[in-house]
Amino acid sequence: MKILLVNGPNLQLLGVREPGIYGGETLQEIVGRVCSLGKELGAEVTAFQSNHEGDIVDRIGNAKMEGFDGIIINPAAYTHTSVAIRDAIAAVTLPAVEVHISNVNSREDFRHVSYTAPVCTGVIAGFGSDSYLLALRALCTHITKKQKS
Ligand code: DQA
Repeated sequence: MKILLVNGPNLQLLGVREPGIYGGETLQEIVGRVCSLGKELGAEVTAFQSNHEGDIVDRIGNAKMEGFDGIIINPAAYTHTSVAIRDAIAAVTLPAVEVHISNVNSREDFRHVSYTAPVCTGVIAGFGSDSYLLALRALCTHITKKQKS
């Protein structure tokens, strides 16, 4: 099973960025934990981070052609603004899980709106960096069930 892990803008700053909200782990550390869990679950995880909307759109759009079975995405601030990323997720027709480190629904009003959630299989938010691990477990289970049916 091949999973694409996409991280959006400013997530390269995890570890130093607002640690009271996002915790003290770096993105590299989180990706390392996701890849380790992937090995346990039989999933090969490829991580990609960009601050640029178009690059994220390109990467999602190519995911099926590149042989990925599913996508985990933390679109970060683009969650609340990007029709282009939403359309890319809808277009690629791969199962996708939206992830947030913080509980976006308990924060500012503008974070309560997600352009991307309606085209994702599901959303996991508010569990700190463990949100990524929960997303991987959920996505692997979902893909395995789909393959069996
Ligand atoms: C975030 C929540 C977003 O609202 C914010 O813009 C981020 C990070 C999260 O993981 O909690 O950059 O996606």
